[in-house]
Amino acid sequence: MEMKIKTPAKVNLFLEIGARREDGYHDLRSVMQTVSLFDRLTVRCNKSVRTKILVRSNSFFLPTGEKNIAFQAASLFHDRFLSGHYEISVFLEKHIPVCAGLGGGSADAAGVLYALNRMFPGKAKQEELYPLAAALGSDVPFCLKKGTALANGRGEKLSPLPPLPSCRIVIAIENERVSTAAAYAAFDALPHGEEETALAETRYRALLRGLETGDPAAVAKNLYNSFEASVFPSAPRAKRIKEELLEAGALGALLSGSGAAVFGICSAEDAHRIADKLKKPGRRVFVCAPEEEI
Ligand code: C5P
Repeated sequence: MEMKIKTPAKVNLFLEIGARREDGYHDLRSVMQTVSLFDRLTVRCNKSVRTKILVRSNSFFLPTGEKNIAFQAASLFHDRFLSGHYEISVFLEKHIPVCAGLGGGSADAAGVLYALNRMFPGKAKQEELYPLAAALGSDVPFCLKKGTALANGRGEKLSPLPPLPSCRIVIAIENERVSTAAAYAAFDALPHGEEETALAETRYRALLRGLETGDPAAVAKNLYNSFEASVFPSAPRAKRIKEELLEAGALGALLSGSGAAVFGICSAEDAHRIADKLKKPGRRVFVCAPEEEI
């Protein structure tokens, strides 16, 4: 059996980090959106005399063995839902930049769960995949759900939101890497005041109104990410990208997740002109659209 699928990247339109919990994770309030920048996965699965999982990719940056989150997804699905032995092989054709705050690894893990569930109909209900997804990583449940959603808890509690109104999302990244765990640690090290909480609340309400009324400019003007204050000082090229996106005419721009990718919300008419302005050696620029729930 073989299945080929596309797995979309995500951006966080809003990301407010709350208190650090006893389990070491932080409570979040995040508005997540899948975008049309895809990895392509080929998942093969055959009966075998012993269980074997193989993950390969076209990227030097990714581990191939059990450290790869796609391997972990295949292993969890196998152990939870399959009886007997199978050889599962996954090829990841990476297009989503790695370690960029775009959820590339989470998208691949969600894609493996989705593909195996389709290849073995009746073994698991769609809802039964969510606990596995949450065990794999905080963003994996959203990558399974896709579309536009509010994420709470450590990111795994999802509620649907109205879709992001028609627009383009220009994403740019330079060769700067941010570890998510380090970004959270840097956030914890900064002082946080009431002003910040009040600003986040105002933006959150206005952003949700923008989604409800289908107004992309209102969404773009109210983007918010708690990570910007802690990540920009150590990722100056990401900060520069944000400035350039705004100077070039993006309606709003924001660090995605813990970075170092930055996205700008643009009109369809302006997106390619803005992307062209951003292009320079050592920088990758993508023009995407919102990817709807499927
Ligand atoms: O869940 P995931 O494996 O993606 O998280 C990576 C790291 O990011 C965690 O080990 C934790 O340090 C941090 N994290 C957090 N709070 C969250 C999500 C992630 O502190 N809500």
